[in-house]
Amino acid sequence: MLNTKLISDVKSENVLPARCAYVPQNARLSLNGEWFIKEHKSVYNLPDDYLNEPINDKIIVPSCVQYYGYDYFQYTNIKYPFPYNPPYTPYNNPAYHYRREFNLKKDGKIYLVFEGVDSCFYVYINKHYVGFSQISHRISEFDITDLTQEGVNTIDVFVVKWCAGSYLEDQDKWRFTGIFRDVYLLVRPQGHIVDYAIQTKIDGKVTFKYNSGGAPAQIDFNGETKTVAPGESADFSVANPVLWTAENPHLYDLKIACAGETIDEKVGIREVSVENGVFKINGKHVKLKGVNRHDFHPKKGSAVSEEDILADLKLMKEHNINAIRTSHYPASPAFYRFCDELGFYVMSEADIETHGTMFKDGSYGDYWNALADDPLFYDAIIERNTQNVINHKNRPCVIIWSLGNEAGWGKSFYDAAVEIKRIDSTRLVHYERTEGVLKTNPKAYYELPLDMVSRMYDFEDKKPGQSALEVLNDTNETRPFVYCEYCHAMGNGPGDLEIYWNILNSSDRFMGGFVWEWKDHGVLYGEGGYKYGGDFGETPHDGNFCIDGLVGPSLEIKPGLLNLKKIYGGEKTDDQKIEVPTISLQKRKPEILTKKDETVIKCGEAEYAVNLFNGKITSAKIGGVEFLNNPIAVNIARAPTDNDQYIKKEWFERGVYEAEPFIQNYEVIDDGLKLSGKMLPVYRSSCLDFDLVYKFFQDGVEIEFRYIIPDSVKSLPRAGLTFGIDKGLDSLVFYGKGEYEAYIDTASLVAFGRYETTVEKNFTDYIRPQECGSHCGTRYIKLFNQNASIEISAQKPFSFSALPYDEKTLRTTTHNWKLPPSKAVYVSIDIVMRGIGSNSCGPKLPAQFEIPKTADNIFIIKFNR
Ligand code: GAL
Ligand code: MG
Repeated sequence: MLNTKLISDVKSENVLPARCAYVPQNARLSLNGEWFIKEHKSVYNLPDDYLNEPINDKIIVPSCVQYYGYDYFQYTNIKYPFPYNPPYTPYNNPAYHYRREFNLKKDGKIYLVFEGVDSCFYVYINKHYVGFSQISHRISEFDITDLTQEGVNTIDVFVVKWCAGSYLEDQDKWRFTGIFRDVYLLVRPQGHIVDYAIQTKIDGKVTFKYNSGGAPAQIDFNGETKTVAPGESADFSVANPVLWTAENPHLYDLKIACAGETIDEKVGIREVSVENGVFKINGKHVKLKGVNRHDFHPKKGSAVSEEDILADLKLMKEHNINAIRTSHYPASPAFYRFCDELGFYVMSEADIETHGTMFKDGSYGDYWNALADDPLFYDAIIERNTQNVINHKNRPCVIIWSLGNEAGWGKSFYDAAVEIKRIDSTRLVHYERTEGVLKTNPKAYYELPLDMVSRMYDFEDKKPGQSALEVLNDTNETRPFVYCEYCHAMGNGPGDLEIYWNILNSSDRFMGGFVWEWKDHGVLYGEGGYKYGGDFGETPHDGNFCIDGLVGPSLEIKPGLLNLKKIYGGEKTDDQKIEVPTISLQKRKPEILTKKDETVIKCGEAEYAVNLFNGKITSAKIGGVEFLNNPIAVNIARAPTDNDQYIKKEWFERGVYEAEPFIQNYEVIDDGLKLSGKMLPVYRSSCLDFDLVYKFFQDGVEIEFRYIIPDSVKSLPRAGLTFGIDKGLDSLVFYGKGEYEAYIDTASLVAFGRYETTVEKNFTDYIRPQECGSHCGTRYIKLFNQNASIEISAQKPFSFSALPYDEKTLRTTTHNWKLPPSKAVYVSIDIVMRGIGSNSCGPKLPAQFEIPKTADNIFIIKFNR
């Protein structure tokens, strides 16, 4: 039987000590590709002859088994997907028996390397037990020299879904299983080098430290060759070195020849430091313009290829991103190589998160330190950290080691930080979750072996950037400050990039920050489009909280990324200086006929109807042609954005989504009507009091609209008018903010100009439909086809949107691919539209971006045929 005891322990068996990641020339024999696979519902219930059992199914490695129809898809953010009983995992813990053959010419030493397996695995070569490993995102290496034979060999791997280590791998992600990164053999000479460290100084000194191995090595660097024995170092010196930075990622070649084998290395000469509380690269202060990156691909899960990684990095580079946090586990070796080449500052994070402890008693409680302080996990927390550091220590891109994410604090983390500094004193150490220490033992807090203060978001009642300012103003604090996460990019948003960066740019004590997060994790599997938590019937799940990236799952560019590009690039917004068309309506004294509940207005060729109970303009016919297919009505609702997810409860309670206009007074005036009314929901009082003055013309209407928000209403999404027109009128020209959507809190990032587009293109295709496509600062719009057009302007700039769906459809449809066919063009013209913010995981919207208590505007709507 497999030694299943290992599953409930945090140790591995027979895995070689960690070494730096490299692949010697011609040493690699890939074991990627087709393997046989068999699923067992429980690892505790394997057949007696499990090693020799027949296997017929096939799988391509690397991959996640869920994409091959095994197990199920599950997305959970915080909650553990299994009962909380550390270090034990459930009996129904599936095991995947992988098997394949490989051909070998026996020569020297043979190693078997797995770059990533979720969550743990047993390995057999030719039916002999080799070892057991865990820590999903680490490199596991086994010496299989003595178990292999010339010619055909068989490898059997049993991958088990959960293990004790899973308690330390509670990252916010889909819970995938399998051999998800490369697997290969290394054929190496006896006496080869094992581990080495390359360290640099900006004066050009490059030190090669031969940490472990057998034979002496010859190091070729910058025209010099030096011989180094294990335990020794060699110094090289580069005159006038070209320093490595993210902007200019200059790399020097270094060759290691040892025991007949050659390793090609790249060296980036650079230094990382903190001087007087200021973070510096090569002696100069640098701001980290970062994002958090997970491994994710919609059709592969965490099994991303080198091309997928490169595609992420190239797109980041194009958008002025210069820093990446490998949230919340080390990336694959290829990632760091690409970051060296393309130029990114990397915060490499250990494979640790224990957020789920917080829910162990059912509701969210403060159990942060449950595992950090548990001796059972002490070694594992250290090992996960040393593994990260030892594997990736030769990559110049790595400037910061992070101890993990959201795992509390305890002796384990303290000691891990000390151990990291012992192994690598050339970089900085980061960890965020230490506010508990500040509360309980402030003296200790300032002496933690951490090189920076880190915070995420500015939760609840804090203002965007407040945490940074608090640290700056803390006279006990001498370290630089970083946001390891900020500006939660979920759905429409984030709206507060500019506020954060006004603050982050205000002091050199601020290192910058990493937006949460780079990419949406929408799964493409089965029928339909992108799926999120709950779409596979799994429980628990966290819905669309995995759809919180700057780009879509297939790198679809969203407005948030375009805004980020400008902020990170320090780009100025160039408003176009252009003349805005004006609209004049043809005057003629209208005939106003009031019937029971309706007023009909005739004005030359035009005929309008107004409902006197709700004030809606129900009809606008010019020469008998109806322009409205949905009345012009007062509107205060918007389909909640993801960042509205908390405030929306208040809106629903207050009746915003049920409120209907009710007219209390009306008066016929010279060329129209004067009405005053309220937006009234059932059983509740007014959400908005308004006055309307309608003036009718031969070719359009002028609407004066003024509102006051009653004191009992704390927040509203918008105040404006909305109506529907024929869906054929879908060509759009407007003069306003926006090659893409713009709200009052992103307005300064989006240029005012003349834009030509269509209603479809004006719609932002968020995976969970929500308010989108609005443009503040608008002065003029025209919607048209060959036969007719509608033009709108106003006395003062306004916000507008023209969308293929109405508010209710956007609000009630859960996925973009479930949206019904469009029935009309829905036009909204708002005196004000509320800002966006980043409250889905961050501060409340700053008060200046709420809609004001009272405001007014005069809109002109012209109908042309
Ligand atoms: C943070 C966490 C991230 C992610 C985010 C919400 O607290 O560190 O991993 O879960 O919240 O999207
Ligand atoms: Mg978390």
